[in-house]
Amino acid sequence: MSTEEYPEIEITLNVNGKDYTVKVKPYERLLDVLRYKLGLSSVKEGCGRGECGTCAVIMDGKLIASCLVLAIQARGKKILTLEGLAPPGKLHAIQKALLDTYAMQCGFCFPGVIMAMKSLLDRNPNPTEDEIREALSGNLCRCGSYLRFIKAAKLAAEYIRKGQVYFEFKG
Ligand code: FES
Ligand code: FES
Repeated sequence: MSTEEYPEIEITLNVNGKDYTVKVKPYERLLDVLRYKLGLSSVKEGCGRGECGTCAVIMDGKLIASCLVLAIQARGKKILTLEGLAPPGKLHAIQKALLDTYAMQCGFCFPGVIMAMKSLLDRNPNPTEDEIREALSGNLCRCGSYLRFIKAAKLAAEYIRKGQVYFEFKG
């Protein structure tokens, strides 16, 4: 049987606090379902093999590469993507800090970098520079914004410690 002939399975995924019922092939990656079936375009494919971090999402509190996870493995788990990070019209402290530190260049790596920072700051509200480097070690930035990411992560941590988690978006 060729892969196209595999029957689709109906699964429910909890993404950004909402349940979605989708039909997937057993071999479909979480990345493709999030991006192409649910329209969450922040989830991007770079390498497709767990090395670049552009497809990173948080699943049950853990940072994962969605290119390495099958959609059916995400059944019953809570998934957070960049789209669910802040309420509509608001910026999360991490996004504000990235803007404040002028870290944005082409932006391709940003969704993954932001999710990696979120995962770090959720478990460690006051990370050292080494801990930030370690937490972002799975994220490749072709534009070389690494030093600004460190500044931004420190600033975001500061905002969050002061209770400033969301900011008005003045785009
Ligand atoms: S696309 Fe998943 S880690 Fe690169
Ligand atoms: S800002 Fe361009 S890849 Fe990171």
